[in-house]
Amino acid sequence: MNIKACIFDLDGVIVDTAVYHFKAWQGIASSLGFDFTHDMNEKLKGISRIDSLNMMLNMANIHKTDQEKDELCKVKNTYYQDSLNNINESAILPGITQLLETLESRRIKIALGSASKNAIKVLELIGLKENFEIIVDGNGVTRSKPDPEVFLNGAEGLGVQPNESIVFEDSLKGLEAAISGGFRTVGIGTAENLPLAEVVYGNLSGITFDDILAALN
Ligand code: BG6
Ligand code: MG
Repeated sequence: MNIKACIFDLDGVIVDTAVYHFKAWQGIASSLGFDFTHDMNEKLKGISRIDSLNMMLNMANIHKTDQEKDELCKVKNTYYQDSLNNINESAILPGITQLLETLESRRIKIALGSASKNAIKVLELIGLKENFEIIVDGNGVTRSKPDPEVFLNGAEGLGVQPNESIVFEDSLKGLEAAISGGFRTVGIGTAENLPLAEVVYGNLSGITFDDILAALN
């Protein structure tokens, strides 16, 4: 195995913002008169804002015009951005800072592969923007995860092949994207929620890069 790069999802992998997306969608759901549960949210993780809304409306059997959907996406993003007011480096998830330092010292390339259009803002708020050589976010892709575009663009930007790169993901859709692109995969979460990952960690606290390489071998 010759790993040359790591490509990280953002929300729920680098930073503890997945919960704010969830709460923002809960706000939208309650304004539409239904409960948005944790199980429903698992299905939305990793996908774009408009795809998330469409999926949510389908789950609740609610029809909206394109214009109404546009408005709901704007409101959701306002809720989400309001919650970002409290974000700083304390929201970085366990083990991430250490792992990024190790990767840098070992000349392993680092990219971001996120569906979020707020990715750069979040990276700036937590002070990690400069750690990423390539940032591919929701503004730079035409197809949402589970399409591999976001990770393929990241690998191309870094000049590495997918099978030389590890994708770190907390969502099933993101893992599907990584696998269909031919990447190695690390899941962050539970094996129950992320059965497709080659290896799953609850978080990366105390997990070294060598631990990860050994687990992928
Ligand atoms: C992903 C999140 O990272 O970004 C999703 O897992 C979110 O929950 C998606 O919907 C899009 O984010 P944004 O910030 O563009 O609405
Ligand atoms: Mg995520």
